[in-house]
Amino acid sequence: MSVSRRDALKLAGAAAVGGLLATDARAAVDRDAALYPGGTADRWPIVQGPTDRTSATFIVMAPTVATFAMEVVAGGIARPDPRLLNRLDLPALGVSLFELHVTGLAPGRDFELTLRDDDVGTFDRRLFRTLDLDRPSGRFAVASCMDEGYRRKAITMWETLAREAPDFLILLGDTCYADRRNPRRDEAGMARRYVHTRLGLAWFRMERLVPTFAVWDDHDLGGDNGDRTFVHLPFARRLFDAFWGTTGNSAWRRGLGVGSRLEGFGQRFYLMDDRSFRDPRGTQGGRQWGAEQMDWLFEEIGTDPTPAWIMSGGQYFGLQALRESMEDDQPAELADLLQRLSRIAAPAAFMSGDVHFSAIAAIGPERLGYPTYEFTSSSIHSTVNPGPVGRGKVVAERRHNFMTFDVDTRRGWQVGARSILEGGAVAFARMAAIAR
Ligand SMILES: [Fe+2]
Repeated sequence: MSVSRRDALKLAGAAAVGGLLATDARAAVDRDAALYPGGTADRWPIVQGPTDRTSATFIVMAPTVATFAMEVVAGGIARPDPRLLNRLDLPALGVSLFELHVTGLAPGRDFELTLRDDDVGTFDRRLFRTLDLDRPSGRFAVASCMDEGYRRKAITMWETLAREAPDFLILLGDTCYADRRNPRRDEAGMARRYVHTRLGLAWFRMERLVPTFAVWDDHDLGGDNGDRTFVHLPFARRLFDAFWGTTGNSAWRRGLGVGSRLEGFGQRFYLMDDRSFRDPRGTQGGRQWGAEQMDWLFEEIGTDPTPAWIMSGGQYFGLQALRESMEDDQPAELADLLQRLSRIAAPAAFMSGDVHFSAIAAIGPERLGYPTYEFTSSSIHSTVNPGPVGRGKVVAERRHNFMTFDVDTRRGWQVGARSILEGGAVAFARMAAIAR
């Protein structure tokens, strides 16, 4: 059965948005439509997922009953048909996630991605690029903690981020608060929360798509401080994979759990899974990443001197009440990590999210044998940390923000880090050179 775009949208409205939302929430969704630039509010959400120089993946969330075709065009010439690699149906919500893969692309030029059906022809058009990974410099953005309940910020913060024009984006956890507004804490509620988050964030409606790489943290799991014993972990994993993509390429591949590794712009990015292997709180000698994932990291990272970002949802350093860190919760694992990092040829820097403030912390040479930093980018739109966020930090910012990193590896490893507020104001900016 062929369903027209108009019918499909109605179904999307009824099933994905309205059916499981209370009337007041439905009214809020309708009201938000006015915040979007003309005609973009009813776009189906699309993520440009794992991408390299010549290929890209796209995750389209659409009504399950919809029939549509995706086409990628450059200079008037259509690329080979995108291949459907993965699909997850969420029957109770009437929506499906389609992971599509496009090959035969090239960096440094715009491509057009269109969605069309037989009834109305082309009904959506986006622009994207692949990643020019061989360049020795680039700009990436890092964000964490996105609760779409902050309805206006869920639009304006992403518009601000888009204006910074990063080459790619890294999301360090809490990409969905699957436990908020999910009173039964069940899998139906988790699926609903993932769908609503995808509907609420403007990032997925932008005309220009940007390659996005994500790793999770506890709220993506659907349980505050969730660990490897969390009952809904396997289901959360299915959701996370379907919503962010799993298809490896020449530059990006999955590690353990939802962890992954990206190489490009003269650097390596290790996104560590800080939940799938975490021992329950209070476990004597408990691990956070687990021995096997730690071995995977060092099999990878030990092979050459290319600068390495160690990235995870949770913070590494800091012994402070009311928030988590590896130093506080798994001190033996942090000691193991530092000792092994101190012995490899590559300089390393730390990146984290989670704590609902952004900061730069100087990590003294006693830790790795050379000075480095922990950068934390947190709460693009979630609850604001009321605590003493600047204590022990070079700089810190608690207001809703994300961070950008202008990196240049031509003369050592130069990092220009900025925290950006709604509208583009710079909360803080620092240059750092990291060398061992
Ligand atoms: Fe969070």
